[in-house]
Amino acid sequence: MRSRSARDKPVIKLLKRCLLSNPSQILHFMYCSSCCRRTLLLGAVTLLLIYIVWIFLSGDHYVSTKHEASHYWCGYGPAMSDFVPKQRPMYETEDYPPNVSYAYRNQWVGFPDMEQVDCNQAFNSSVKNNWFPQTVPRIFPHQFKAASANCNEFIRDFGFLRYPKVSEEEENFPLAFIVLFYKDLDQVLFLLRAIYRPHNVYCLSVDTKSSVEFLDAVRSVSKCLPNVFVASKLESIVYAGFSRLMADINCMEDLLQHPIKWKYVVNLPGQQFPLRSNLELVKIFQLYNGANDVEGITGKRMMAMRFMWRHDYVTNNVTGDVRLVSSGIKNRPPPHGIDIVKGSAYGTFSRDFIDFVINHQIAKDFLEWCKTVLSPDEYFWATLHHSKVVNVPGGYTGVPDTKPWLSTYASWGGGGDPCATIRIRSVCIFSPEDLPLLINRKEMFANKFYITHHPAVLHCLDQLLYNVTFSGSTRDLKQYQDLPFALKTSLKL
Ligand SMILES: *[C@@H]1O[C@H](CO)[C@@H](O)[C@H](O)[C@H]1NC(C)=O
Ligand SMILES: *[C@@H]1O[C@H](CO)[C@@H](O)[C@H](O)[C@H]1NC(C)=O
Ligand SMILES: *[C@@H]1O[C@H](CO)[C@@H](O)[C@H](O)[C@H]1NC(C)=O
Ligand SMILES: *[C@@H]1O[C@H](CO)[C@@H](O)[C@H](O)[C@H]1NC(C)=O
Repeated sequence: MRSRSARDKPVIKLLKRCLLSNPSQILHFMYCSSCCRRTLLLGAVTLLLIYIVWIFLSGDHYVSTKHEASHYWCGYGPAMSDFVPKQRPMYETEDYPPNVSYAYRNQWVGFPDMEQVDCNQAFNSSVKNNWFPQTVPRIFPHQFKAASANCNEFIRDFGFLRYPKVSEEEENFPLAFIVLFYKDLDQVLFLLRAIYRPHNVYCLSVDTKSSVEFLDAVRSVSKCLPNVFVASKLESIVYAGFSRLMADINCMEDLLQHPIKWKYVVNLPGQQFPLRSNLELVKIFQLYNGANDVEGITGKRMMAMRFMWRHDYVTNNVTGDVRLVSSGIKNRPPPHGIDIVKGSAYGTFSRDFIDFVINHQIAKDFLEWCKTVLSPDEYFWATLHHSKVVNVPGGYTGVPDTKPWLSTYASWGGGGDPCATIRIRSVCIFSPEDLPLLINRKEMFANKFYITHHPAVLHCLDQLLYNVTFSGSTRDLKQYQDLPFALKTSLKL
């Protein structure tokens, strides 16, 4: 079919003629003309090479260096076939770093629907909850899924780059955060945005009992944020059960392998909210000097029945619910002569401590022992941190109960702590009337908030935190100096 005259004519001219006269002839021509066949082949090979180099450069190739990609790429499930290189979001340079008026105009601070709320009123001690809107429009998982289909738009619309560029001090002191949740993705992302910085790292642990759509939306959102990932192993969380502890441990294993060399990790439930800016956290953790910040309770408040007796998992064969019941059989004593100390499930942990927890045999043995304990998350961290038997990194061997604990403020019923509205399982759910109290706390986070319960409290805390961050100022750092648990000798961090 190849015409002799065609070979003699300049290819371009021929192509032009071919296209003009009969576009369908073009492929036929290119294939039949031997010169074009070579060019085509060369082009295809070049494109393939460029594609391979591009994948290598743009994909997160560090993943496959030491660890199995399938393990690290938590977010994408265990099968290699699920592996998708993370698309790096491209930021509109003129949007970043923003300025205050630009951020407010784009409704990146607080809830867009509470724009009219005067937060300065909220910090006045005579604040009343009924001065504020009682609800905020919800954003549902399917909406986040749709919005995150375009990462640039998602990041812009939801204000994930609303803060100014991080300072060098913060950049040299990256933090890791673990967020555990099973519902209210809008509240979780409101929290995530408050603590989000491009140089930190965030592990999301979602209860596997949440719906497929929910988990799908979480994965979709996390794909847009290069330093946010879903834990490689998710747990079905049983109330007061061992799986709650494992959710944190799984994230910590992932975080230790992550290329961002974070110095401290803070674990949070989706219902906490920060009281300090990232810069303040960094400055406070530097004062800790390698020490962990873990609560410690001994004596009568330890609820010893929870670990003296073995607890078994019992499945309700009608509802399918799993719960823990005391078996009436005594637990064997803790391994290695460790003394049990109670504390919160939440804390601030140095990298060295987490390395010990994940890799040291004594920590592994103690974790195994915790399997039959009721609420083991309230014993595991506190016991290791306060152990006199094992010299754990960043630990504390003084009297646990007298040591301050600054990670999280919760207002417990019975503890004499005030609460403006309701308590659920003894813990206050904060509202604007609690704000004058909250802003004077020295803890770094507060627990709990419900997006459905006076959400203006979240709106105003977010605004306060945003303004503090933007100003680059730090508040009352003096009160963190000379903490009894801070390490005296300078540790290499
Ligand atoms: C704030 O930032 C926006 C977007 O970058 C810019 O257009 C605007 O001029 C800035 N305003 C001020 C006062 O710097
Ligand atoms: C607090 O609110 C009261 C009553 O609205 C007002 O009289 C007072 O000036 C306010 N205080 C501050 C510091 O804004
Ligand atoms: C459900 O559990 C009860 C005891 O708790 C048992 O008697 C009953 O046979 C069980 N039903 C089924 C369908 O397994
Ligand atoms: C934060 O800054 C904005 C803009 O300057 C201001 O309107 C708002 O009242 C401030 N809010 C708080 C809580 O500081």
